[in-house]
Amino acid sequence: MPSSVLQWKTMRPFGFRSLIVLGFLGGLFTYYKLDIKFLKSDTSARQVHPTVLNTPGDSNCSTEGQHNQPQEAAVVDKVEDTEPDTIVLIWMRPFGYNIAESCSKFNIKKCQLTEDKALYNKAHGVLLHHREIQENLENLPKEPRPWFQKWVWYNMESPENSGLIPELDDLFNLTSSYRLDSNIPVPYGHLEPVTPEDESFKMPVKDKSVCWIVSNWNTQYRRVKFYNEMKKHIKIHTYGNAFGSKMNYQEYTSIISSCKFYLAFENSLYHDYLSEKIYMPMKLGTVPVVMGPSRQNYEDHVPGDSFIHVDDFSTPKELADRLLYLDRNDTEYTAYFDWTNRFKVQRSSFGTTHACETCRYLQRNKGYQAFHGLNKWYWG
Ligand SMILES: *[C@@H]1O[C@H](CO)[C@@H](O)[C@H](O)[C@H]1NC(C)=O
Ligand SMILES: *[C@@H]1O[C@H](CO)[C@@H](O)[C@H](O)[C@H]1NC(C)=O
Ligand SMILES: *[C@@H]1O[C@H](CO)[C@@H](O)[C@H](O)[C@H]1NC(C)=O
Repeated sequence: MPSSVLQWKTMRPFGFRSLIVLGFLGGLFTYYKLDIKFLKSDTSARQVHPTVLNTPGDSNCSTEGQHNQPQEAAVVDKVEDTEPDTIVLIWMRPFGYNIAESCSKFNIKKCQLTEDKALYNKAHGVLLHHREIQENLENLPKEPRPWFQKWVWYNMESPENSGLIPELDDLFNLTSSYRLDSNIPVPYGHLEPVTPEDESFKMPVKDKSVCWIVSNWNTQYRRVKFYNEMKKHIKIHTYGNAFGSKMNYQEYTSIISSCKFYLAFENSLYHDYLSEKIYMPMKLGTVPVVMGPSRQNYEDHVPGDSFIHVDDFSTPKELADRLLYLDRNDTEYTAYFDWTNRFKVQRSSFGTTHACETCRYLQRNKGYQAFHGLNKWYWG
């Protein structure tokens, strides 16, 4: 749609700034463990480096592995990683990020992740990050695609912060993004069950009520208008580039945990677009006050009693009043952490999660696949 291209153009300075912000956010993506473990040890297929995937892996991909001991898994990993059956080529570093070499922490086996372009003709999957292609189509591989190879488009930015490129419409075999309807969904975070080994939740010491850290300031954004109204009714502690305060990761996390509420206001509102803005406070023991997609869509990702949604209030003042009330009532405030008895937050590792989940996907799906109409799907 031309309008979104236009939008992209006007967004450009912000897009660029968000590159820098993303560098910072890189620190926010961390360890990610899957709740579904795939522990099938395939002893029947012992080929060394087959170019083509030829061991059907679909038959026994149950989710029963959940009960397995992590220690056992780690040992199995070491053995199996020595004989990879699937090569995933990271074509260019996404935003310059380093991607891990092993998928063992995801409990995904027999994967070879590589940046070595010489392996192009052997690679089962090629990971192509949108931003690098968007900047220059010349960054795409030039050699013909081997018949068994799948190209994976991946992107964690919302459509508003991604440039639509007509040439990409029918180019890929698979998609990977925060959207749950991607072939390989990689949300910014997810909840997995707590185990007896996990420390039980302890509320951090709070000395502030409402906080907001924001870099990307645009008076047209809904979040800015909302803030301007809300601050008339409640004190909001503000930080970030938009308020002239830069901070490192350590400062960022300690600010969030020292506040009772954190304004998790997304810069753009899209289905499934729940960024680190909600997962960080949840992880750090702070109640996120969210602005983004609908409450219902949030509840596709996190429990309904773990956050406060701005749309539940008819005015910013009404929300402010609710926060003032909760600030005084510990019983009701603490109830927002009930979910921590059952779940914990795991965030994705940018790039690494995509590569490892791609490997797992390729191991399980070996047939022909093509993804047509990327632009309509993503940019609508
Ligand atoms: C998984 O493997 C076990 C043991 O080989 C077998 O009994 C079971 O039927 C398999 N399950 C599926 C879904 O194929
Ligand atoms: C705090 O909330 C609880 C639970 O809703 C309620 O029973 C109690 O009366 C409230 N206390 C105050 C001081 O508002
Ligand atoms: C991948 O997609 C391309 C473009 O649609 C197609 O030509 C190719 O055959 C597909 N490859 C596989 C392995 O599905």
